[in-house]
Amino acid sequence: MALEVMALADSPVSAESSFANISFLDLKAQFGEIRDELLDAVTRVLESQHFILGPEVDALEREVAEYVGVEFAIGCASGSDALLLAQMAIGIESEDEVITSPFTFGATAGSIARLKARPVFVDIHPDTFNFDERQLEAAITSRSRAIMPVHLFGLPANMDVVLEIARKHHLAVIEDAAQAIGARWKEKNIGSLGTCGCFSFFPSKNLGGAGDGGMITTNDPQLAEKLRILRVHGSRKKYRYELLGINSRIDALQAAILRVKLRYLDSWTDGRRRNAECANTFAAGESRPKFIIRARSTLSRHLHIWATASVIFRMPKQPAGKYFHSRFIPSLRSTSSERWLRLSRVSTSVEP
Ligand SMILES: Cc1ncc(COP(=O)(O)O)c(C=O)c1O
Repeated sequence: MALEVMALADSPVSAESSFANISFLDLKAQFGEIRDELLDAVTRVLESQHFILGPEVDALEREVAEYVGVEFAIGCASGSDALLLAQMAIGIESEDEVITSPFTFGATAGSIARLKARPVFVDIHPDTFNFDERQLEAAITSRSRAIMPVHLFGLPANMDVVLEIARKHHLAVIEDAAQAIGARWKEKNIGSLGTCGCFSFFPSKNLGGAGDGGMITTNDPQLAEKLRILRVHGSRKKYRYELLGINSRIDALQAAILRVKLRYLDSWTDGRRRNAECANTFAAGESRPKFIIRARSTLSRHLHIWATASVIFRMPKQPAGKYFHSRFIPSLRSTSSERWLRLSRVSTSVEP
């Protein structure tokens, strides 16, 4: 199944008041549903007065590792730092080349450039929005050290091809999975396939904290150990510095909040999937699309899409609540008289 979202640039409706703006994600509604659990979690941390690393972070790391299906998960301050730390641990240095996608958030290439390494871009495939793996091998030089696929909108890159090319050329694979927690490539979770997986817990992400946060996943015990050292100034023991590290730890408060939210992640993803079905229903009924944004892949058995397009749908006259039930778009319930709806962003996932 493909998600096809239409943007009607020549829409006959011009006045802004004719549209209902549906927020991409209603975090206040989400908070309302799990308020008591979150407040309990925050209180638990405040009462412990243990704010940096510690038992909450240990527990979150274990739970994320289990969810992703890897041996180790190492929390850090953000998705950007996850990418940076992964490259530091792998040993990416100045003048090295990391092959990645140009169609991503700035932190992907930024994390490479921060180490004075060179991002080498491979153009994207129009169907998947990931880099076109057929062009990957041509980008490899004697300076190549790693491939960094970006599972943008939760759409997995073709990991069969990426891993095969990486093995052939002895390159590390750093998955930018900032937008893709819960996505799967065939039977495996995104973040468990490469040398490392890098996740973001930015508040609007599928699993979002109450501030910044990130996580690196890996099955390599030595890499995991190095990551734990690098995120604490390069020291294993207090004031004894073995490596040149940074300060990039996830707070215990974030960990406690994320542990609550992780329990809901799959059901929220199901809600996004239901929204996708609604979006498809409306898109299918529209006869004059000006242009169509496709998030389609026939490559993987399970897709998880986090689309951020701005789209407008023609609404049938029936009450909107009949079509949209998800908690993600509760504002729709009050817009039954509107004929047109604008989804400022569609957050969704589909299975082919
Ligand atoms: C693809 C991608 N990579 C990296 C990041 C960086 O994550 P963070 O904002 O947690 O630093 C983001 C965040 O939006 C992202 O979307």
